[in-house]
Amino acid sequence: MTALAIDTSGLRKTYRGHGGRRVGVEGLDLKVPAGGVHGFLGPNGSGKTTTIRMLLGLIRADAGTMRIFDHEVPRQLPEVIGRVGAIVESPKFFPTFTGRKNLSLLAEAIGAPRSSVPEVLEATGLTARAGDRYKGYSLGMKQRLAIAATLLKSPDLLIFDEPTNGLDPAGIREIRDTMRRLGDEGRTVLVSSHILAEVEQVADTVSIIGRGRLLASGPVAEVIGERGITAVRVGVADPQAATEVLTAAGLRVRADGPILRVRGTDDPARITYLLAQRELYVHELAPVRADLESVFLDLTSGEGLGEASAPRNGRHADGAGAGGADARAAAPDVHAGGTAGSGTAGAGAAAVGVAAPPQDPPGTPWGTGDAPDGGAVR
Ligand SMILES: Nc1ncnc2c1ncn2[C@@H]1O[C@H](COP(=O)(O)OP(=O)(O)O)[C@@H](O)[C@H]1O
Ligand SMILES: [Mg+2]
Repeated sequence: MTALAIDTSGLRKTYRGHGGRRVGVEGLDLKVPAGGVHGFLGPNGSGKTTTIRMLLGLIRADAGTMRIFDHEVPRQLPEVIGRVGAIVESPKFFPTFTGRKNLSLLAEAIGAPRSSVPEVLEATGLTARAGDRYKGYSLGMKQRLAIAATLLKSPDLLIFDEPTNGLDPAGIREIRDTMRRLGDEGRTVLVSSHILAEVEQVADTVSIIGRGRLLASGPVAEVIGERGITAVRVGVADPQAATEVLTAAGLRVRADGPILRVRGTDDPARITYLLAQRELYVHELAPVRADLESVFLDLTSGEGLGEASAPRNGRHADGAGAGGADARAAAPDVHAGGTAGSGTAGAGAAAVGVAAPPQDPPGTPWGTGDAPDGGAVR
């Protein structure tokens, strides 16, 4: 058995507030192997931040067990927290001080050696800009400085909650490279995100959660690899009729306005053939990378589970909810004349009650949940 950096079992958290009870995490079993980058994926509101906060002892769990490097958390947190760096809260940097000065102050505060400052600046690619004031930094640089701060104590485990939120593509790449480097150094990086593409490019292993439950876990290639989850974008004059034809042929169809997203075949020619037989002519046909929404639907759709021809290797053997048991989450693709899963959306709208964009630009949130946590430091 591989050593685990993080190991939770039956983790549960329910928030009680004015609006009544709200499930944050519902029996989550999260296993993060030691060493490498682990993507913690789930739509907004699925429980990522709640899980991270419990792990760090910032909020209490209602039930379940948590271990970090084999230390029971929160009971033994004091013994292990020195090995953990996390970015979940707002950064507390002095705007008029340089990046280097901010880090020096922090290093002094936590008793880290002076030599650690140039090291962490180098590790986050900030050396050349270390003498510039914090307030002049780009968002990506600010976020990298936050990462640099967590590295001061040379942690074995880094926990980043949606670290690329609000960053432009260049900033996202910078953070990704930094995380990759940390993983390659043998550290464990747990990075949460609601954007599949961002995590897929950097993670070695991944866990996907939905509504506080684990849906799948394993090596990235197995969980979100090409197989069974690529889709084909189909543009056709009468999407309604095309949906009926394709659905009848056993394909899974989701409508994004006039564009259909079709899964269930790796052969676009089959789609054109089926449609042309009914005199429905395709004006656009393009294979597209699966987005998290597609993967999520795939994992939660009862229909997908019945497909013996497309096993999903990476599914965690005993992952709660992997059986699509959560009825609310069991949102199959739009079927002819049907409604879209849990939402009020009709056949013309995207499933999960969320309007998906026609393309899959990286960085497109697909949930309507909470606002992202803003950047920051420990
Ligand atoms: N402080 C809170 N009070 C009440 N409900 C909360 C609180 N924090 C989170 N929640 C709810 O718990 C669920 C999980 O939220 P969260 O852990 O923030 O998800 P994620 O980080 O995956 O977006 C959501 O339904 C959210 O609205
Ligand atoms: Mg969150």
